[in-house]
Amino acid sequence: MKYSLLSSILALAIGHAFADNCNVPLLYCGHSLLAKGNYQPQIDQCLFDNNHLTLDNGQSVLFGCIGGPNGVIQFLQDCGLNRCRDNGNGKNDTCF
Ligand SMILES: *[C@@H]1O[C@H](CO)[C@@H](O)[C@H](O)[C@H]1NC(C)=O
Repeated sequence: MKYSLLSSILALAIGHAFADNCNVPLLYCGHSLLAKGNYQPQIDQCLFDNNHLTLDNGQSVLFGCIGGPNGVIQFLQDCGLNRCRDNGNGKNDTCF
């Protein structure tokens, strides 16, 4: 009994973690990912892996969602400072 209660709580917690991940195959601005959850470490890693420096910690970079349990992201392009637009839920973000 205790065990099943614990696993339900665990399932809820994991379900919540998933909800904060990016959705395939959508594209996201860095600032949209940050609004979703704790994406800064992944953004930093992704920019580092691509040898890309930004002035705003990747907020104006457009990322693709690769997915998986950790919501892995992929570097697509740097839109330029404040030139990445969040087009809303279920829509691709775009450079403008
Ligand atoms: C978003 O962009 C991806 C990759 O370019 C594309 O496959 C997908 O259909 C687009 N989705 C929407 C909702 O526009």
